Amino acid sequence: MKKHGTIIGLGYCLPENIVHNADLEKLVDTSDKWIRERTGIKRRRILEKEKPSSDMGVKAAKDALKNSKTKAEDIDLIIVSTESPDYLTPSMACVIQDGIDANNAAAFDLNAACSGFVYALTVSDQFIQTGMYKNILIIACEGLSKVVDWKDRNTCVLFGDGAGACVMTSSDKPGIINYDLGADGTKHKAITIPCTHFDEDELFKRNNKRTQVIFMEGREVFKFAVNAMTASVNKLLKEVNMNIDEIDWIVPHQANMRIITNSIKKLNFPMEKVVITLDEYGNTSSASIPIALAESYEVGKIKSGDYVVLVGFGGGLTWASILIKWA
Ligand code: COA
Repeated sequence: MKKHGTIIGLGYCLPENIVHNADLEKLVDTSDKWIRERTGIKRRRILEKEKPSSDMGVKAAKDALKNSKTKAEDIDLIIVSTESPDYLTPSMACVIQDGIDANNAAAFDLNAACSGFVYALTVSDQFIQTGMYKNILIIACEGLSKVVDWKDRNTCVLFGDGAGACVMTSSDKPGIINYDLGADGTKHKAITIPCTHFDEDELFKRNNKRTQVIFMEGREVFKFAVNAMTASVNKLLKEVNMNIDEIDWIVPHQANMRIITNSIKKLNFPMEKVVITLDEYGNTSSASIPIALAESYEVGKIKSGDYVVLVGFGGGLTWASILIKWA
């Protein structure tokens, strides 16, 4: 019988430290009013400077294991989605494996920027369909505060830290129904965090030639995001002959409220069925979708039998959407 990936437990972790828009007014020339009106963000969580980001991933992973009633030793594979790893090597997946004692798991990181969690779900489902693995732990873990230039008002007001996780297991029924992944590498310069190579162009774009911090062409990303999210969800549903009105919840990447409302309007979908956490946590990159998903499940919004669409976009530029029938 054909095997399908099914999500059986969710978890998340947010740092305790809350940074309000008013706090950022002390760092850069900005205002609470501008940030709320242009982005929808009111505050974000920021990890203590001395802590590694993987601490959040360990907590989110433990939460997902507990909620799915899965023992760490029964996990066959750990995939971590991150664009802000503690190390280039080892992978964050190996660090988290150590933190949760998942001694029987293979482990690797995946970087598709903010689309990374949906990419990781897709990769996991493929491993389950081939029968190679039974239980997979997927964690999206982002310590973006460590790669933000706190003197750059164009970016520092947008991002926050956090981690989200889920356990996917092999099941006879879907589960995961369909996915759409994509990338447009011609736009790879639109969002960059240089790592080992710093060309003049990248140095010029940053304050004081700072290197390992985020640069972003906000307007270009904005236009791309609305088009990519809309096209991806339409393709996702068309391929399985479903209509948007059959969907119970959309959980979009939380980057900008105007991106979300524009895309949702184009999809002809009611905003009441869209999960929003952006106002509280800002953009936590690939962690934003699993955090929003876990919170909405926790408060009883998403229920068994619901059709849920997750859709993201981000650096690369990449996009990804997935359709799930909730177990
Ligand atoms: N506070 C006050 N003013 C700011 C500001 C801030 N934090 N950031 C930018 N501005 C200014 C700009 O300097 C510009 O001033 P100017 O007209 O004097 O040049 C003005 O606001 C408008 O800038 P613009 O870039 O056109 O604003 P925008 O409406 O496009 O909003 C973003 C900027 C970044 C919020 C928006 O483009 C965006 O969200 N883009 C997508 C980003 C994204 O999703 N990134 C993550 C990808 S995963």
